[in-house]
Amino acid sequence: MSLKTPFYYYDLELLNQTLESMTAAIQNPNFKVHYAVKANAEDRILQTIKEHGLGADCVSGNEIKKALALGFEPKEIVLAGIGKSDEELDLAISHNIHSINCESIEELEVIDAIAKKHDTIANIAFRINPNVDAHTHHKITTGLNENKFGIPISEIDTAVDEILKHKNLALKGIHFHIGSQILSLNPFANLCQQANRVTEGLKARGVILEHINVGGGLGINYSDPESQLVPNFEEYFRVFEKFLNVEDGQTVHFELGRSIVGQAGSLISKVLYVKKGAASNFAIIDAGMTDLMRPALYNAFHKIDNLSSSGEQESYHVVGPICESSDTFGKSELPKTSRGDFLVIRSAGAYGQVLSSNYNLRDRAEAVYSDVMSLEEYIAPNRPLVSLAAQ
Ligand code: LLP
Repeated sequence: MSLKTPFYYYDLELLNQTLESMTAAIQNPNFKVHYAVKANAEDRILQTIKEHGLGADCVSGNEIKKALALGFEPKEIVLAGIGKSDEELDLAISHNIHSINCESIEELEVIDAIAKKHDTIANIAFRINPNVDAHTHHKITTGLNENKFGIPISEIDTAVDEILKHKNLALKGIHFHIGSQILSLNPFANLCQQANRVTEGLKARGVILEHINVGGGLGINYSDPESQLVPNFEEYFRVFEKFLNVEDGQTVHFELGRSIVGQAGSLISKVLYVKKGAASNFAIIDAGMTDLMRPALYNAFHKIDNLSSSGEQESYHVVGPICESSDTFGKSELPKTSRGDFLVIRSAGAYGQVLSSNYNLRDRAEAVYSDVMSLEEYIAPNRPLVSLAAQ
């Protein structure tokens, strides 16, 4: 098999194992997970996720189209997004999806007009900004007053007044999402408290909700992925069991993305040059920020291993080929590395391939799957592999 690096390698066994562990951790039959399609929208990934009975959390019309094409039922699809276009709303309404998560009072007017055109009633959830600190990177924090997302808690009463004026809207739920890569469970407990305040306030006004959507955000272990390939879903769901007040007949929705797909994907790249710089040794690889943006965008750390060498450990600055200094994967201790070695950049299954671009007119990295060939089989004909265990 001809091998074109860089490529994304997906471990379907690990993905299935993660999904099994996640579904087994759900003790409550009223808990339902919609996978956040934005984390990874590859067909085979979505198909695998669908097979485990998850719904789809979409943030664009094209994500809805993809979910529908892969067989997700409209009633299993939700749409979020602070700037939904009329076309996207039209698509969502014409398919009568489970919920349109509305992010502003201004948006209600537009959704109502489109629903009226279709002579139907659109299912609405208010996305509420709970002003809860997720204690994660500021660029992936979404639930603070300073963030652009959601309706402020102080505006909920006005939003209810407004929705009651519109005949083509039905308020079915509330929605929150406080951020991503959240490693402590405290922010989720704080979210539950805020959600309880909101539902009590709404109940006092006679508004009974069908669902409470608490978003996603559960983080993964980037620094030592092997030590926790499957996140602790039990602990995560237990927080909501314990702290979220749920009425009879109400369902609780989750929108997990990263925790489901993050560890199942790696970016495989070949070393082009090893160059002695004035300050460090550079390992220049054929993957760049166009393939995996996270380090350039968020200073994110991804563990790197050399699949082809078992030499002495040395220090390298691993960089891509793009003409930007932000095109770096960071400093890494690797066994002696040479031209032609294969490096694996771990934990790249979420927000990796989806964020890729063809800047510099580069080709986009393709996806290869573990059930077609193991990583060893992909790489071995090109260069002998050493066992990672031997390093
Ligand atoms: N629901 C909503 C409304 C969201 O905005 C997101 C992610 C999720 C669910 C899924 O969150 P997760 O479970 O994956 O944390 N590109 C960044 C992450 C951006 C997350 C955006 N929203 C990164 O590479 O870290």
